[in-house]
Amino acid sequence: DMSPEDAAFQDRIDAGEKIEPKDWMPEGYRKTLIRQIGQHAHSEIVGQLPEGNWITRAPTLERKAILLAKVQDEAGHGLYLYGAAETLGISRDEMTRMLLDGRMKYSSIFNYPTLTWADMGAVGWLVDGAAIMNQVPLQRTSFGPYSRAMIRICKEESFHQRQGFDIMMKMAKGTPQQKAMAQDALNRFWFPSLMMFGPSDKDSVHSAQSMAWRIKMNTNDELRQKFVDQTVPQADYLGLRVPDENLKWNADKGGYDFSEPDWEEFFEVLKGNGPCNVDRLAARNAAWDNGAWVRDGLMAHAEKKRARKTA
Ligand code: ACO
Repeated sequence: DMSPEDAAFQDRIDAGEKIEPKDWMPEGYRKTLIRQIGQHAHSEIVGQLPEGNWITRAPTLERKAILLAKVQDEAGHGLYLYGAAETLGISRDEMTRMLLDGRMKYSSIFNYPTLTWADMGAVGWLVDGAAIMNQVPLQRTSFGPYSRAMIRICKEESFHQRQGFDIMMKMAKGTPQQKAMAQDALNRFWFPSLMMFGPSDKDSVHSAQSMAWRIKMNTNDELRQKFVDQTVPQADYLGLRVPDENLKWNADKGGYDFSEPDWEEFFEVLKGNGPCNVDRLAARNAAWDNGAWVRDGLMAHAEKKRARKTA
């Protein structure tokens, strides 16, 4: 019961063609992309806050320069992604308003606090590691502007992941106190990182349709498993313990068995009840309000220039 347009569109997707902004597309495809790309962009922007928290307290000049560059990269990722979403017919201002008043989401992970310098290591290693696991396949996503943005973003994300792992190495091989800080950061960020991949497949409302349209290339559980399989040996290398009693190599499936995150906590965070939701939205709202004079000034200037030209 697909319309001829929908069927022709699905044929293009199945043939592996890229869909470009001016091509015909089902409204659901457009809406899903605006939701996902917009949410992804907001995550990059809000994601600057937990790490921005440590820029003034980085332990060395070199670490500070690296962290500053990384946080600036996240801003850049947000901008490419807003640009990609705008090709679908929504403005960045509209998406921003929807973030600020809670109509659009951003990743659950950024609602957790960064309490120590070791958290900069854990965020780079685990959070950016999870982000890459999700984003590498998205380089092949069906919507052209999104897939092209992902190519550059993934290159920068792998630098971010390496810098995080490098901090973890320094801490884990440092004094007993430093190693304990690294372990504590891993303990707090492990399960929230697993939540980044979204709810388990049986609760994922969008996966089936998004995968049929090749907006998503994998299910949430597939990517979560790959992340665990990649990360556990890295924790071993650091001499740190993944905080999961049920973690066990399963030779039959060629992967680890592991505990599910606390899904009740996940859905609470999505509803706005995580440890930092209120702070994060307050910070973004303050940034928007404090930037009003710049936007007003630019608009007034553009208006004057236009008036001069037509005079
Ligand atoms: N944080 C916040 N919301 C989430 C998360 C999460 N970790 N995972 C799922 N959700 C939301 C979905 O947005 C959806 O809600 P909505 O209908 O109101 O939008 C709901 O939970 C149900 O989940 P799914 O049906 O599984 O949603 P979806 O198919 O969109 O899958 C996923 C979620 C995997 C996050 C997907 O959107 C995706 O791949 N996005 C691109 C990557 C991304 O956004 N990364 C951001 C974090 S990485 C970074 O910025 C450094």
